[in-house]
Amino acid sequence: MEFDKAYFDAGVRRVGTECEKWDGMMARTGDADMIPMWVADMDFPSAPAIAKALGDVLSWGTWGYTIAGEKDAEALCAYWARRHGMQLSPDEVLMSPCVITGMRVALRTLTKEGDGVLINPPVYGPFFQSIQLNNRRVVESPLVRGGDGRFCMNLTEMEEKLASGEARAVMICSPHNPVGRSWDEDELSAVVSLCERYDVPLICDEIHADFVYAPKKHRCILSIPGAQARAVMLCAASKTFNVAGLQQSSIVCRNPEMLEKMRHEMEAGGVKSGNAFALAATRAAYTDCDAWLDGLVAYLTDNRDFAVKYIAEHMPHVRVTPLEATYLMWLDCSALGMAQSTLMEKIASAHVMVNDGTIFGEQAKGFIRLNIGCPRPQLALALERMATVLG
Ligand SMILES: Cc1ncc(COP(=O)(O)O)c(C=O)c1O
Repeated sequence: MEFDKAYFDAGVRRVGTECEKWDGMMARTGDADMIPMWVADMDFPSAPAIAKALGDVLSWGTWGYTIAGEKDAEALCAYWARRHGMQLSPDEVLMSPCVITGMRVALRTLTKEGDGVLINPPVYGPFFQSIQLNNRRVVESPLVRGGDGRFCMNLTEMEEKLASGEARAVMICSPHNPVGRSWDEDELSAVVSLCERYDVPLICDEIHADFVYAPKKHRCILSIPGAQARAVMLCAASKTFNVAGLQQSSIVCRNPEMLEKMRHEMEAGGVKSGNAFALAATRAAYTDCDAWLDGLVAYLTDNRDFAVKYIAEHMPHVRVTPLEATYLMWLDCSALGMAQSTLMEKIASAHVMVNDGTIFGEQAKGFIRLNIGCPRPQLALALERMATVLG
């Protein structure tokens, strides 16, 4: 098999590629020995078919205005049908530079200034910023942890915030970064029902859809009955194929009126997607990279199992949140009784950089996020170092 353990074990040298994860870390810390286990991209080479597509565009030698649209949307729809059993149609797709652009366009279009937008912290930081920067209000309904360590939405509280009018839209992360949940069909159906009952739009960020570990399967929000009329789905090849630096994503919506409004909002703001390199890479990702992705998900599954076992053996006071999806592990270090700043300082002193849990919500004191999207030797070394301060 071409994309086997040895392929992913080899990784890729990223220092000097202007990447936030390695070069940005070095600029911040000045610590050349630090291992970056933070920013959500991976230390693997992107699939060869993507490099070839980029090379082909490079070989043109000139990069004028590019035809963008139909065939890009067709590639996306074929991918979702093949990988997720989800039938989408090109006329439901808008292309956008990145997922956060799509999120902001949806917020600006489907809510008014001053409206409350319901989110479930701890959640990816730009959920908060996207709401605040657009003069909407963050309405929080924090996730709750069950006895099995998995986080769930508090549907009763969500309903209260919608019923009172405090929230006029709902925005969910599915799968969820950072708690690693792949929402079950009944959970998604319950959210859609709430949105129907209170007649509010639902924005669903599915950028991590391709990292759902067996036996679970990703369920697209648009496949949930009732969602078609009010949901906006945001997706991209960027996270899956490690091409986030190219900036290409999609907004999918089955409500023609909402879609038209978002198209207009993008046009009004001059937001255009049509970078020749990004389009070619994304089409290649959606068309020719299934074997690479299958190999990657198998490798990440093993990374997850390796980390769970290592932490249980060497850091018994650190509680791992079951990782159903994403390559971002949510670790509860609260039993160690350290202040958050001490926890972060200790980990940094062991020359490992992780994300401070509190950037995802103030509820997350005692938590850190560990990115396991890297070669096993790198993961093993980072865990070994973490054990010296958290063990
Ligand atoms: C849930 C989620 N949404 C969006 C993004 C960023 O996507 P983009 O770079 O396309 O804006 C990330 C990146 O980590 C993410 O985790």
